[in-house]
Amino acid sequence: MSDKPKILVTGVNGQLGKELQQLTSSYPQFHFVLLSKEDMPIQQFELVRHFFATLKPAYCINCAAYTAVDKAESERELAFLINGEAVGVLASICKEHQARFIHVSTDYVFNGDATYPYTENFPTDPVNVYGASKLEGEKQAIQLNPDSIIIRTSWVYSSYGNNFVKTMIRLMGEKDDVKVINDQLGSPTYAADLAAAILTIISNSELSFVNWKPGIYNFSNEGITTWYEFARAIKEITNSICDVKPITTSEYPTPAKRPAYSVLDKTKIQNSFGIQLKDWKESLGYCIEKIQHN
Ligand SMILES: NC(=O)c1ccc[n+]([C@@H]2O[C@H](COP(=O)([O-])OP(=O)(O)OC[C@H]3O[C@@H](n4cnc5c(N)ncnc54)[C@H](OP(=O)(O)O)[C@@H]3O)[C@@H](O)[C@H]2O)c1
Repeated sequence: MSDKPKILVTGVNGQLGKELQQLTSSYPQFHFVLLSKEDMPIQQFELVRHFFATLKPAYCINCAAYTAVDKAESERELAFLINGEAVGVLASICKEHQARFIHVSTDYVFNGDATYPYTENFPTDPVNVYGASKLEGEKQAIQLNPDSIIIRTSWVYSSYGNNFVKTMIRLMGEKDDVKVINDQLGSPTYAADLAAAILTIISNSELSFVNWKPGIYNFSNEGITTWYEFARAIKEITNSICDVKPITTSEYPTPAKRPAYSVLDKTKIQNSFGIQLKDWKESLGYCIEKIQHN
């Protein structure tokens, strides 16, 4: 049995989980235990307890989440079970086993009425069920395990899974024009950059325990854009001839309301952990290159 510190990753087949998996070979000082939804559904609390008792991880990164934002409106109970209650249980099991807990949350905990980037202590006020369920998870994690680190992120994409970037590339290949919302402001996050930031936090904390600084942090790529401008950048990078047209949120009704403004202030994570942020277009370029070479 390896005596390296173990990092248990939940929900490993999602975007963030896959990106973490890609980075494992760059962190040989750790032993990664990568668990999918099938291996360890986080709402099966006895199974989770069994995994912790057997594996004794030093860290747990929770990449498992109910992320179907629109479906959550009609599946409130399930969203709250996975994003709320199960996060609290995971956090408290981590505490019991002295495992450090890193959990990922969302910009959707805010109502979107702000006009400047949200700092971590700005009052939360989710406008949809998904956001409310993620906020519940944050609250339970902090209450049951105040040593937790919670990272709020926004507009996540990756070369893995389904996301805005991959959908746009597909639609731009199939259609003459696509209509994209131009009145929601935010910052895209390449899941590979978030995965690297999480492993930086963990690596630093191995050097000295004072480097583990519990609390809530914001993370995204640098820069502010709209979904329309995001799509325009995808068009440019892929040399697509598809016509990208701006529309308003009201022209694209969805079951779940989205915040109009969800830009996160990243000063705290940069100052606390020395994490450098990449510009969103630069990271988008890396991701598209990876998608095209797969
Ligand atoms: N995607 C975004 O734009 C975005 C924005 C802000 C914050 N976030 C947050 O960032 C984190 C990572 O998101 P992501 O984009 O990587 O999400 P994702 O691609 O949807 O991955 C989530 C993973 O969790 C798994 N999962 C679902 N229910 C589970 C359960 N009960 N037990 C164990 N695993 C379960 C999913 O499996 P199935 O796919 O098989 O259900 C999936 O593999 C999440 O906490 C999310 O809330 C995401």
